[in-house]
Amino acid sequence: MSEATWDVQDGAIVERPRNVRKHPLLNRIYERHDDLIAEHLPAGRTLEIAFGQHMHPRADIGLEGWPSNAETVRKPALAGDARALPFADDAFDAVVGRRFLHHVPPADRPEIVQETARVLRPGGRVILLEGTPGLYRTLTKGLAFRLGLLEEDTDIYGHLSEDTVTALVDGSFDVVEKRTLGSPLMLASISESDASARLLDLYERTQYVKWWTFVVGEQPDIVA
Ligand SMILES: C[S@@+](CC[C@H](N)C(=O)[O-])C[C@H]1O[C@@H](n2cnc3c(N)ncnc32)[C@H](O)[C@@H]1O
Repeated sequence: MSEATWDVQDGAIVERPRNVRKHPLLNRIYERHDDLIAEHLPAGRTLEIAFGQHMHPRADIGLEGWPSNAETVRKPALAGDARALPFADDAFDAVVGRRFLHHVPPADRPEIVQETARVLRPGGRVILLEGTPGLYRTLTKGLAFRLGLLEEDTDIYGHLSEDTVTALVDGSFDVVEKRTLGSPLMLASISESDASARLLDLYERTQYVKWWTFVVGEQPDIVA
């Protein structure tokens, strides 16, 4: 019997996600995202929550719901739930979270943002990258299932629009940046062929096709 790769814990879908290093185009796209995130990171200590198998190069520590993911990264990592962060108040300058809020029941997402705000110092930043819903995603995913490229759909809670992510962050932070990132050329990005990396140019030229939402919030400074 093959080893389980996902589970549901208190309603959250925890899993061993795809290893991006095995997918040349996806790997290059992730590197683009790493660069964009780095541009918005303040100096200091960074926590990445729900890092899967990929932690941002500037993250100092990570926290993951699927415990053995911690063994796939070289940085310090803890198993835990982003809804109850095992860190002191004001412990970090930045918290990064990518492609994971859609694995958490909608009612619990404000709790995650509040926990993030608690562990961030005044002036600290939360940086979120989430998948956007839409016809393009529905069609490409449907095709991927039909072609047998995807096996199981664990996205039971649906994805989050730019407005939804912004509204979540806006409750506890000043939104200092929001933008839509484009098409990941999904079918090619899950390919393991080196040839797929040649599509990076096409990826750059199809940014108008919405796929991800990028939102940066800054914790207001305490006014004396
Ligand atoms: C789609 S994967 C994305 C992983 C990685 N951030 C990336 O972009 O490749 C979603 C990740 O969120 C984690 N996760 C889901 N709910 C969580 C929670 N409540 N606390 C911590 N991690 C969680 C899962 O275990 C999984 O690794």
